Amino acid sequence: MEKETKTGNREQFGSKLGFILAAAGSAVGLGNIWKFPYLAGSNGGGAFVLVYLLCVVVIGFSLMLMEMALGRNTQLSTMGAYRKLDKRFTFIGVIGVVAAFLIVGYYPVVGGWSVAYFFKTLIGELSTSNPETLGGIFGALVSGTWAPIFWTVVYMALNVIIVIGGIQKGIEKASKVMMPALFIVLLILAVRSVTLPGAGEGLKFLFAPDWSKLSGQVMLAAMGQAFFSLSLGMGCIITYASYLGKKENLVSNSLNIPAIDTLVAILSGVVIIPAAVSFGFEVTQGPGLVFVTVPAIFATMGPVIGRIFGLMFFLLVALAALTSSISLLEVVVAFFIDEIGFNRKKAVATSSTIGIIMCIAASLSMGAWSNITLFGMNIFDFFDYVASYICLPLGGMFVSIFVGWFWGKKNAYDEVTNEGTIKFALFDVWFFLCKWVIPIGILFVFLSGVGII
Ligand code: TRP
Repeated sequence: MEKETKTGNREQFGSKLGFILAAAGSAVGLGNIWKFPYLAGSNGGGAFVLVYLLCVVVIGFSLMLMEMALGRNTQLSTMGAYRKLDKRFTFIGVIGVVAAFLIVGYYPVVGGWSVAYFFKTLIGELSTSNPETLGGIFGALVSGTWAPIFWTVVYMALNVIIVIGGIQKGIEKASKVMMPALFIVLLILAVRSVTLPGAGEGLKFLFAPDWSKLSGQVMLAAMGQAFFSLSLGMGCIITYASYLGKKENLVSNSLNIPAIDTLVAILSGVVIIPAAVSFGFEVTQGPGLVFVTVPAIFATMGPVIGRIFGLMFFLLVALAALTSSISLLEVVVAFFIDEIGFNRKKAVATSSTIGIIMCIAASLSMGAWSNITLFGMNIFDFFDYVASYICLPLGGMFVSIFVGWFWGKKNAYDEVTNEGTIKFALFDVWFFLCKWVIPIGILFVFLSGVGII
């Protein structure tokens, strides 16, 4: 990694599985387990979920393939990739790097909460299903000063250790065991959740769309969440795919990863929402939803089994979050290496220091600094809003404009089919989506979401 050059010789993923796991590890994270359920809860349930699924199908798969193609074609991280292909589009890389900085500036705060909850489960602080008690514990944690900062620093330190090791040793190893384990735990919890009394109402809320709840804002929330959850619109997948060998099948990878990611998000929704409804938690409460609901589920599983599941759950969530945040950090780190000329150690040190400072501000904005607002949002929400609802969708829109109109059909065809050696029957459909449907669709949702149309 230290010797990465702009001309190639990039270290590559050790195996095909290595890339799938790393990319899926990037996609599956707090976005699925923490953000998706609470956004579904706050945005009216079924209508949000359906728009989300529509965005994954129409935009997600296609954009995933575009980013993979650009990354592997150039063997460069995001800024360099555009500079090499068409200088005028370097600004897409800039949007991506801005988004990466913003997300690195609050994601580790939530990662820190997960680590904190692991320890709270360990010491038995959470063994209750009482909504007030659990709400109080969460509120006390996030509005505190030193405790959340402490956990954020712990979480960030784990990231630094992994990212400093470089792509092969760190990222690949971390993703291999955790993903299947997380999936199994979620599956068991989903079964527990839907068999709770009154869970049916929750399932109805989650899957039966109430179209009266649909608005421009809800659509933008769903679209932004699709980008966030799939790690798209920022060049993260470009950066990962730049380590990919020329023989890999991009088409099948670009189908698998969104499919896995969406499955995990829906599964988390099925764990959280029915249980929240059954226990009488407010599903519209926002970021605390997962952290108050899940301990209540564990409490119904008995003191020993509940505790074991609680420990496994928060450990796996923290690890899923780690495989995502290392991919975020990697974008920032690649920026410092490729653009500023830092070596890897210095790049990691700089990125994580900036990240920690932003995270401290984001964390305090839910407590001591809650009176500081930007456009009516606290700092935490502001970082999230600008990244998820502005940078990622616009980044994605420009990527598809670039691929559809400037990079062009021939280049795209050669790259995604490995010079014609891989069959891709839907190529024309994909390219039509890239050229027309996706840019127009994103623009429409974006403008209606911010209230312009
Ligand atoms: N997708 C991750 C999650 O759901 C977060 C993430 C990692 C991300 N890399 C990204 C979001 C790049 C946007 C862009 O938790």
